[in-house]
Parts: sequence; C-alpha cells; structure tokens
Amino acid sequence: DLFHHSYEECIVIAHRGASAYYPENTLPAFKGALEMEAAMIELDVMLTSDGVPVVFHDAKLSIHSNGKGLLSYHTLEELKAFDAGAWFSPQYAGTTIPTLQEVLELVAGKIALNIEIKTEAVSAEISGGVEEKCLQLVHDLNMQHHVLFSSFDYRALRHLKKLDSEIPVALLYNRGQSNGRPPAQLMNDYQVDAFNCSYHEYMAKWGPELHQLNIPHFVYTVDETDQMQQLLDADVSGIFTNRPDRLKALIDQRRN
Ligand code: G3P
Ligand code: MG
Repeated sequence: DLFHHSYEECIVIAHRGASAYYPENTLPAFKGALEMEAAMIELDVMLTSDGVPVVFHDAKLSIHSNGKGLLSYHTLEELKAFDAGAWFSPQYAGTTIPTLQEVLELVAGKIALNIEIKTEAVSAEISGGVEEKCLQLVHDLNMQHHVLFSSFDYRALRHLKKLDSEIPVALLYNRGQSNGRPPAQLMNDYQVDAFNCSYHEYMAKWGPELHQLNIPHFVYTVDETDQMQQLLDADVSGIFTNRPDRLKALIDQRRN
C-alpha cells in the first residue's frame, strides 16, 4: 500500500521521472524510472488550450522546450511540434511533451503514479475540468488503485475528492492557502490522505508533528545522500528524488 511507514518501506518516488538523467516529464525519463525500479513516478499535469491533460512542469514553454509563451495557450497539435528533449541533451532531440494518456499507457500495471495537478499559473477559464479529465483517464486505464493525486492548489484537492471520495489525494503544503492551519487540521478540512512538503519545511517545521499524528507524508525534492539519510532516519513515508537509483541503493544498503 502507498501509505507505509518503516524506513525499509520508504517509497522511492522518481521526481518528474528519473530527471537527473533524462529530460524531465518525458517518456525517456519515465522509462528510466521504470528501469531503476522506483516505486512511484511523480509528474506534473496541465491542460492544453483544447482541454487535453499534458505532462509539463512550467506555465512557460521556453524553460524545458523550444516553444514560446504559455503552454495553456497552445493546442495539443501545436505543442506536439515542440521539442522537449534537446534542451537537456542533443541525444534527446525529437522528444515531445507527452499527454497524460501516453504516460498512463506506458506505466499501467508497472508502477504507481503521483499526478500533481498544476493550476496556479493558468487562468481560471482554461484550467477548468483538469481534475475530471485526469480522473477519467485513470479509471479508463484501471489505475485508480495505483495513483496518488496531489496539488498545491487546495481547490483542486476539494474538487478531486468531490468527484471521487475514494481516490487517494495528498495536500502539497502551501503557506498562503494553509493560512496558519496545522497539518492535522488541513488533512481534516480537505479530507486528504497524505501531507507532502519540502525537505526544508519537513526539517524545520512539520517532521515531529507528522510523526506524532502518524500522517503519511512524502518529502520533495532530495538528491543529496546526506539529506536522504536524514529523511530515512526520520522514517518518512516517501522521498521525491531526481536520482531514484541513488535513493534505492541507499535503502538497500541500510537494510543489509
Ligand atoms: O510533488 C512534489 C514536487 O514536485 C512539488 O514541486 O515544483 O517540483 O512540482 P514541483
Ligand atoms: Mg511536481
């Protein structure tokens, strides 16, 4: 089950795929995560202007593709003409922005998935319906028992649980929207299943409370061995890393 606790069971979550080694949020990065035997893949989802869920982290295309302007102002057909791999290395030229459906088809039956819904950077009239569309795809591919949704946008959390109260959802700690509420209250207010936060938030603020309350929690994004060790010592439920091979080796080493 996704929400296990002892450190041997710490879940290795490939952040945007095995993104230290491949262009993030692309099929090569997800194949890399499968090869490295991560337990879960995290990816970021937003809608195209014609309403298709695609996998990309930034509102702006220019950071991780050769496109220009905002992703959400482009149709899927326009987006598919852009290159999302060459910025990382010429070896990955020709890699496209994947649809969520393409990724689900690649990973179904092989690994768990954390679908992070990105809404913040998109205007309200075009962000509508992303939750319905993602949930529908997850059910179409029979992945509902292998998916954890998450978002920094608490409206998306509410929307997901209203659509499907059974689907696992994690709250990504957001200082503004949390407005002083502690984890236990946030969990209750949004009826979510896990609390996710950054390494720094975990170390400086939430660690003891999450443990005392026994709340499943997944911590992002940790690539350095000493920080991984700290989190394993602290018995976190899972770690997001761009280097899933490194975290996995560390967990294996500590087990023996
Ligand atoms: O879900 C964990 C992490 O991915 C959240 O931050 O900006 O990498 O999507 P970001
Ligand atoms: Mg993310």
